[in-house]
Amino acid sequence: MLRIAQALETQLRKAMQRAFPAAWDATQGGGLDPQLAPASKPEFGDFQANAALPLAKPLKQSPRQIATAIVEQLQSDTGFTALCLEPQIAGPGFINLTIRPERLAAEVAARLGDERLGVPSAKNPSPVVVDFSSPNIAKEMHVGHLRSTIIGDSLARVLEFRGHPVLRLNHVGDWGTQFGMLITHLKQVAPKALDTADAIDLGDLVAFYREAKKRFDDDEAFQTTSREEVVKLQSGDSLSLKAWGLLCDQSRREFQKIYDRLDIRLSERGESFYNPFLPAVIDGLKQTGLLVTDDGAECVFLEGVSGKDGKPLPVIVQKSDGGFNYATTDLAAIRYRFAEAPEGDAARRVIYVTDSGQANHFAGVFQVAERAGWIPGGARLEHVPFGLVQGEDGKKLKTRAGDTVRLRDLLDEAVERAEADLRSRLQEEERSEPEDFIHHVAGTVGLAAVKYADLSQNRITNYQFSFDRMLALQGNTAPYLLYALVRIAGIARKGGDLDVAADQLQFSEPQEWALVRELLKFDAVIAEVEEELLPNRLCSYLFELSQVFNRFYDQVPVLKADVDALPSRLALCRLTADTLKAGLGLLGIATLERM
Ligand code: ARG
Repeated sequence: MLRIAQALETQLRKAMQRAFPAAWDATQGGGLDPQLAPASKPEFGDFQANAALPLAKPLKQSPRQIATAIVEQLQSDTGFTALCLEPQIAGPGFINLTIRPERLAAEVAARLGDERLGVPSAKNPSPVVVDFSSPNIAKEMHVGHLRSTIIGDSLARVLEFRGHPVLRLNHVGDWGTQFGMLITHLKQVAPKALDTADAIDLGDLVAFYREAKKRFDDDEAFQTTSREEVVKLQSGDSLSLKAWGLLCDQSRREFQKIYDRLDIRLSERGESFYNPFLPAVIDGLKQTGLLVTDDGAECVFLEGVSGKDGKPLPVIVQKSDGGFNYATTDLAAIRYRFAEAPEGDAARRVIYVTDSGQANHFAGVFQVAERAGWIPGGARLEHVPFGLVQGEDGKKLKTRAGDTVRLRDLLDEAVERAEADLRSRLQEEERSEPEDFIHHVAGTVGLAAVKYADLSQNRITNYQFSFDRMLALQGNTAPYLLYALVRIAGIARKGGDLDVAADQLQFSEPQEWALVRELLKFDAVIAEVEEELLPNRLCSYLFELSQVFNRFYDQVPVLKADVDALPSRLALCRLTADTLKAGLGLLGIATLERM
């Protein structure tokens, strides 16, 4: 109902201008905000305007007098009377607004023929970078990266749906001193890998990393060689680069398996990409006078952020040994993304999806970029933080043996459990289904459950991972939402023609109206997610919509409805299905016809 809300806003402002011309002129309209909001309760109608209360003092009238004057003006506006029933003044002076039923029905009709389901395309599309997933080469992609991957993908989908050009960037950790020991280890244990193409499958890189680390910690000679190896790599030695490339490729293949399973698209632009741009960061900071040499390191002291000793904290951009930091790379990336990237690749908004542990890092980097003048006017840098994934015991998620949980295993287990649930349900219902059906449903439900469980939490809070909860058919879960869609597909299978003509919609039952109103909220929800970057808002909405639909479907006959009511009810079913599918699609969740 975004468009309706906008129309109402305009009508209210005009009414206020006519009711209080002096006050309007004095503030050039600025002081007369109608304070339009969705109705706080369904019995109050669709919207309420709360302007009268705060205006009582400046206008020296009672809120009810003010509300009455506004309503009088509204009622003389034919645009308004065509849109709304007579406004009601409630309590101390709230103006309750109810949209005319025929206008709501017309909105439903319009959405039935609209692929975008009423969601407008952005008027000013502006290029966005979503920097997400971003695991580290040769290390395990852990549940934190899973959260980043799922949340980042969903935000990217919403922004894409709104019509913004989105660049999905995988800022993988593919550079740094750890490569010294990895390459040294590789050269010693698998020298063949370096001169024969595809000679060797490095297998489990995480185990490889562990071995290298152990040697690094235990063996001084290995340590020295590793340090020399870092220098070689940084100076572009071809054999070192080759070894580095092999390690990256191996990791990449492992990451890609996860992305394929989760249906995630990402372009890799790892830390190493920004290497050529690092010296310019230091030069740029020098020129702006922000750079300070402290204890041999080059840094920028932050404003308004101090450590325990009360002294301002630094962002170190170059260590005393000349090496650069994680922060330096992020500064180079900001400059690149805003200014240096080739046409079609430069952003106006950059969104970073990482755990909240990196909040200080980003706050520091953003401040330095801002003070250095590297953020163009109107451009936005946003850190989208999320909390930890915990086990059901409230502690960091671990396997029973105490190891970090491998993503592969976690996804496998979700699917296995979904399959077990399905098989026992089929048995209970005395249904028999072919094996490929069972695998398809279990695969879809398992992954949907993992994604939805993550997305439906407010991302800022820590979240407790529970297979039982996420796979339940009841509650705010993926299976519950998928089941609503299955019910609607069932109506079509039983002969309900969901492709009804949209011209003669009429609704009478309160359950129908409740569903109409819920359906019409979709556009506003999407606008909110785009702005606040909180996918859980979309999840709550889809859950609410499924509940309202189920109430409607349980309480009002659909297939057995009178001929007059049938097309309108089928139309509601169809729009519900379209909206759920679109919404789940924006969460990266595939849907089912039967389950
Ligand atoms: N590789 C980092 C990690 O695993 C995340 C990188 C996030 N993106 C960035 N531009 N710093 O924690």
